[in-house]
Amino acid sequence: MLDSEDELRKYKNQFHIPLQKNGKEHIYFCGNSLGLQPKITKEFINQEINDWANLGVEGHTNASNPWLPYHEFLSKSYAKIVGAKKTEVVAMNTLTVNLHLMMVSFYRPTSKRFKIVIEGDAFPSDIYAIESQIKFHGFKIQEALIKLKPNKGESTLKTEDITKLINDQGDDIALIILGGVNYYTGQVFDFKSITKIAQKKNILVGFDLAHAVGNVNLELHKWNVDFAVWCSYKYLNSGPGSIGGAFVHKKHHNKNLPRFCGWWGHNKKDRFKMPSKFNPIKSVEGWQLSNPPILSLAAVRASLSIFDKVGMQKLIKKSKNMNSYLLFLLDKIPNNQIKIITPKNSGCQISIKVKSKEKNLFERITKSGIIADWREPDVIRIAPVPLYNSYIDIYRFYEIFKKLL
Ligand SMILES: Cc1ncc(COP(=O)(O)O)c(C=O)c1O
Repeated sequence: MLDSEDELRKYKNQFHIPLQKNGKEHIYFCGNSLGLQPKITKEFINQEINDWANLGVEGHTNASNPWLPYHEFLSKSYAKIVGAKKTEVVAMNTLTVNLHLMMVSFYRPTSKRFKIVIEGDAFPSDIYAIESQIKFHGFKIQEALIKLKPNKGESTLKTEDITKLINDQGDDIALIILGGVNYYTGQVFDFKSITKIAQKKNILVGFDLAHAVGNVNLELHKWNVDFAVWCSYKYLNSGPGSIGGAFVHKKHHNKNLPRFCGWWGHNKKDRFKMPSKFNPIKSVEGWQLSNPPILSLAAVRASLSIFDKVGMQKLIKKSKNMNSYLLFLLDKIPNNQIKIITPKNSGCQISIKVKSKEKNLFERITKSGIIADWREPDVIRIAPVPLYNSYIDIYRFYEIFKKLL
């Protein structure tokens, strides 16, 4: 019944759903890791492949979608998805690269204010990047890195504990970087309150939106977030390793902040006059380095055209309904077997702690035709995605899971 009433159900057919050996479709709950391929992606990439074959270098200006400004074709859609102005978002590089570029500008430690706050269980790449920046500036990781940990017996962080830390130690903190949605627990952070409280203490705030973009409501401009970075291969369905994105709030665009520079960030008017002095574009585009990979951008553009049609509001509404349904079913499983560690009102992802810690269980789930993922030591992550999952997918998963448990 829920599927028959679902106004987004027609979109499932617009994606390639991986098949099992027996020819049946998998139940795909791994959009939090790699989103599925929209059927139109091939068309968008072929357009550029053909223009390249037919036009060679002239494609930069004469392709149907000229390559020179190609990244700009994505900005309007991205602005809608992350709640930003068009000049505040750009498709460029990949997530970890962008995180470094942002830290070059927004982590300017002094002897008094040099600490960075992150989640204790942040995605390892973020930890490596942040630690390397701390070392690069000559500080000690033990002194400069504050890792937020949940209270004893709890799985997720509390906004009031983050607030307390900011109020107690804020004068030493230069930067807070949080995953907008934690990759492990699925916890959605209170972007607005954390940003506000931190900025009262003159702390800069950035978010890693890998698990938030295309998943939860974002109002980066209104919330006054300083910067954000994301990848496009999860909920944004743009293909493995596809080009990511960045947000820099408008208030920073004219400050001539220190940055690592490249020619694609140079003022467009005289870029091709090849001046030797760098003059940044006065928008987030001023952080670009290289001319971007058009084939990858074409895949992002294909996917964003679907987001343009559907809109985040409808996606979020369905996602919330799917999650309520999944939680309603999981609630029937005895709590000596599993524990849901994702807080209520999260995004697509639900993280299920398996009390027996048996990875074998997960392997059997996979053999039964469900693609999800296992995160050590004991968590199965399930992400029903509103564009290509149905309520019956959720019910089938529940039946298989219950039986195997
Ligand atoms: C939360 C989070 N941050 C960072 C990364 C790293 O992304 P990339 O390899 O695109 O730099 C990932 C990758 O899955 C991630 O989930």
